[in-house]
Parts: sequence; structure tokens; C-alpha cells
Amino acid sequence: MIPHKPTSFHIKSFGCQMNVYDGARMAELLEAEGMHAADAGVAELVVLNTCHIREKAAEKVYSDIGRIAKRDGGKPMIAVAGCVAQAEGAEIPRRARAVDLVVGPQAYHRLPALIANAVAGRQAIDTDMPTVSKFDALPGRRAGSPNAFLTVQEGCDKFCTYCVVPYTRGAEVSRPWGAIVDEAKALVDGGAREITLLGQNVNAWEDQGRGLHDLIEALAAMPGLVRIRYTTSHPNDMADGLIAAHRDIPKLMPFLHLPVQAGSDRILKAMNRSHDVTSYLKLIDRVRSARPDIAVSGDYIVGFPGESEADFQATLDVVRAIGHAQAFSFKYSPRPGTPAATMGDQVPAEVMDERLQRLQALLTEQQHAFNRATIGRTCEVLIERDGKQPGQRLGKSPWLQSVLLDGGVVGDLVEVEVVGAGPLSLVGVRPERAAA
Ligand code: 5AD
Ligand code: SF4
Repeated sequence: MIPHKPTSFHIKSFGCQMNVYDGARMAELLEAEGMHAADAGVAELVVLNTCHIREKAAEKVYSDIGRIAKRDGGKPMIAVAGCVAQAEGAEIPRRARAVDLVVGPQAYHRLPALIANAVAGRQAIDTDMPTVSKFDALPGRRAGSPNAFLTVQEGCDKFCTYCVVPYTRGAEVSRPWGAIVDEAKALVDGGAREITLLGQNVNAWEDQGRGLHDLIEALAAMPGLVRIRYTTSHPNDMADGLIAAHRDIPKLMPFLHLPVQAGSDRILKAMNRSHDVTSYLKLIDRVRSARPDIAVSGDYIVGFPGESEADFQATLDVVRAIGHAQAFSFKYSPRPGTPAATMGDQVPAEVMDERLQRLQALLTEQQHAFNRATIGRTCEVLIERDGKQPGQRLGKSPWLQSVLLDGGVVGDLVEVEVVGAGPLSLVGVRPERAAA
């Protein structure tokens, strides 16, 4: 390993948007320390910001470590951050000796001290969950693109029986109102036009009796900020005020990621989801009464222990009843320390594969249908970045669909007519161009 403090870094984030946010904040912290961002092939410090939610994601870290340690440019300092760091801690350098530093998701504000320890050959492992918030110790925000993430809530108290999050990210904690508003202002001053509020249970956010809808209302009053989104939500925390916000606040985008996970009440009970199919569908009805065009997204797990073909059919039924704009689906993955990992009646891998394929076929069909339904409509698109072709731009519709455009300025909110739709994206033209 390099015998001096690294001068350059590369951060690779896996998993959820909260890791993307943490990765951005680590980059800001390292830049404040005088380091600069570089490619993975040459950076003197490589940070793997990991995900522990499923076994495949967690195991990928080890193959990545091996590859980075053997890269052509010589071995960099290797740091493992994120949820694998939290879950496996000191076990990581025992298993992968190339790892110099381990830092959990609540401790990354201490990265500079850990780097100094690693350079000095001292142990550099920190998986504390300190009571003083890391946010207070981090440098201020910069916006790097028109759309920014802002973590407002972390952790989970729900203890779904398959999930590691309550163990890796800890109990539900809401950041204070003032800190969030200040961070949002800094992001908007830096050029952000859309902010996505993040939390493992973002709709459980609260501060002295104020809920997420109050926060959204306050942010909507901020000049320069044109779009607000939030994710991920839990059905039990979907307050009336938040539903009403979808009717009353135009800057709140018509998109809701609200996982139901499965369509069989028996499985939902075994998952400890504390909602059933009927209550979930009623909730979706109420949200749609408030905002009829809302795009509904979700997460599904197939092959939870004990899931029968009839249970799986019930999942397909609930998907049909909801009609998703998009949704994610996963094979159940037993996670160490979770109650479901030791439940009997684990579903064989080939059955899970086959169910996942059927579910994904249905979800793809729904997504394509949702996209096709926007053809001919005019909507606003926030241009986020350049596309692959010369002159092409990529933006997002209000319903979070990717839209390909023939030109425009990154950061602009433009009126677009949708002229084409594939399963994954739309093609749009700006009406003045269409007329020309
Ligand atoms: N196996 C498969 N999927 C899981 N998820 C969480 N834990 C597991 C697991 N053990 C899924 C859930 C959650 C999403 C982020 O990941 O659907 O909503
Ligand atoms: Fe995991 Fe359930 Fe908490 Fe979501 S609500 S993070 S699935 S325990």
C-alpha cells in the first residue's frame, strides 16, 4: 500500500439511493481534505460503498476487492464502507487482507482519521453508531447536477423478517427540520432544481409533531426548486397529510414508491409487514383519489420461505390490481441474523427463478403500457444530462420516466411532447421544434 496520505480517491457506490447520497458526501469530505476524485484505475484510495440487502450484492464486494488489489497501477488503499462494513466489520480485513479500512454508514465523517490510521499501519475500523449525528461533522453541500438527493431520515424500526436494514442502519432517526432546510438551500444555490428526500422509511420522518408533508410544503416555497420527490415509503406511515400533499402541492411529483412486497396475507404476516393486501389497496385508492395520474412503484420479493404457487399467484393478482408504472422484484435471499433465514420451508432456487421471470414479465408489460399511455401527451421534462448521441439530452418526466430529447440545456425544465415509448424510456420533442 502507498505509504503516504492518498491524494486522490474513487468512490464506487452499490445498492440504494441512500448509498449514492453517502457516496456524494464522502466525496465532499475527501475534497475538503485536499484530495481529488480520480478513475478507479489510478486513484490512490478506492472506497467501496457497499450494500448488504441480498447475498449477491454483499458477496460482490469480495470479488471487487480482489480485482482492485491486482490492478495494473499498483494496489491502492482500499476502504470498505456502507452496509457490508456495518454488518461484517473486522471480519472483512480477516477475509480480504487487501482491505486497509472499514467504515460503517454512521461513521464516515471520521474517514480522514481512519485514513491517517491506515497510513500509520494502525487499525482502521469504525462501525460505531454515534449519538452525535455524522451530518453535523460533514462539510456543506454542493450540487453536482440538477437533481440532488437529500437524506432526511435513516434507519428502520419495522423489522420485516427478511431484512437486514434495522441491523445495518439502526433505529429510525429523523434529521432536524433546520438542518434539512439549510442543506436544501445549499443544494438549490448550487444549481439543484429537483430534490429527492431520502430515507429507509422517509414517510416516517417527523420533527416536533411536523411530518414529511410539512417539510415538503416548506421546501416547495423555495424559489429555484422546481421538483420534489421522496423515497422509500412504508404503507403504515402514509399519513393523510402526505396524501393530501400529492393533491395540493404542484412541485411534489406524481410518483410514489410504496412497496407491498407480496400479495398473500399469509406471507405478509410471516414477513411481519403489519399491513394486509386489502389495506394496501385501499391506501392506493386514496392516493389515486388525491392524485389520479400518480405513478405507483413498488418492491416485490418472490420465494419467501413457505411461499406456495397459490401465494405467488396472489402476488401476480396484486400487481394486476395496482397497475404499476414500474417496480423492482427480487428473489428472496436469506440474510444472517434475520428471523426468516432460519424459517423452515425455504423455496428451491429453480422455483424462485421461474417465479421471478413470470413476475418480471408482468411488470415489464405494465411499465411498457404505462409508458405507451403517455404518447401524445405534453409534459414537463427536467433535463438532467447529456445523452450518448451527439446533441442528445436525457431528462425525467414528472412520473420519473427517462425521456430522450434532441437538444436542450441541462438543468432546464422544458415542455415536451412524447412521441415514442419503449419499456424503459420515452422519446420526446420540444413542441416549438415539432412545429418548425
Ligand atoms: N431478500 C430479497 N429481497 C430483499 N429486500 C430486502 N431484504 C431482502 C431479502 N432478504 C428487498 C425488499 C426491499 C428492497 C429494498 O429489497 O423488497 O423493499
Ligand atoms: Fe427492511 Fe421492512 Fe424496514 Fe423496509 S420496512 S427497511 S423492508 S425492515
